Amino acid sequence: MSDANHTPVLLDEVIAYLDPKPGQWIVDCTLNGGGHAAAIVATGARVLGIEWDPTIAAAFPERHPELVGIVTVVNDTYTNLERICADHGVAPDGILFDLGLSSLHYETSGRGFSFLRDEPLDMRFNPETNPVTASRIVNEWPIEELERILTEYGEEQFAGQIAAAVALARRTAPLRTTTDLVQCIESAVPAWYRHRKLHCATKTFQALRVAVNAELENVEQGVAAALRVLKPGGRLLVISFQGAEDKIVRELFKTAAKNGTARWVTRSTVRPSWGEVSTNPRSRSAKLKIIERL
Ligand SMILES: C[S@@+](CC[C@H](N)C(=O)[O-])C[C@H]1O[C@@H](n2cnc3c(N)ncnc32)[C@H](O)[C@@H]1O
Repeated sequence: MSDANHTPVLLDEVIAYLDPKPGQWIVDCTLNGGGHAAAIVATGARVLGIEWDPTIAAAFPERHPELVGIVTVVNDTYTNLERICADHGVAPDGILFDLGLSSLHYETSGRGFSFLRDEPLDMRFNPETNPVTASRIVNEWPIEELERILTEYGEEQFAGQIAAAVALARRTAPLRTTTDLVQCIESAVPAWYRHRKLHCATKTFQALRVAVNAELENVEQGVAAALRVLKPGGRLLVISFQGAEDKIVRELFKTAAKNGTARWVTRSTVRPSWGEVSTNPRSRSAKLKIIERL
């Protein structure tokens, strides 16, 4: 997994709002290739980095030999944030979540995150602890449940048609690869939808990935834990890429601000500049929210 790169989004904004100081502890809950972590360490702060994907976590020392001993890498889910901080004796001065998946997942994981590659339908961030694969969902879950996932997590307007096509296909043979699923989607949607700029499989793939990894439940638990474990005066930054995640973060922050445990640092969501979007198109849907523990 070490030959691809993931460009960190909103990097300048993250460093400006996190404002790490030498000697402080910052928890990066979504370490990945360490793009944000490396910039945080450059300020003199120390980083406790949590990464759920065992392959990415294991490759970190090879990717960043200069950060070995400075960034503490933990292969776990950020939903265990409080236990992880306790285990390492860390009271965080700042916490960062950069949600979703990275270029490493699309390009080199071999786990079917991209509809442009012919790979097994897996989509798990952590195949060691999570038994639910995308293949299992499309082949074994009730079709009504599949339709609900596509509608709620993917906002897919042809959810019913795609779920019906999957139901038909799996009666003959299980869908095992990304190509099997893409063909099924293409057979279900109208021609105009197949020929748009946005690939017709985009929303289905996003929805399945969210379901496979219980991403919305994780965000809810992880961000709530971060609000509890953060030191007074410490800042919590969350970058989200989907409306549903952003809504969860907004509600948790609103409640914390209302009950007096935190204050908004900026009321408005921070978005990437035009310049960033033009050089890193993946950043276009990024939304950064920031709150400070009181
Ligand atoms: C968008 S990437 C982060 C990129 C990183 N900030 C950088 O600049 O290199 C998100 C990472 O979070 C990881 N991840 C997803 N869910 C997680 C969870 N519940 N706990 C810990 N890591 C998670 C993914 O495996 C992925 O590597």
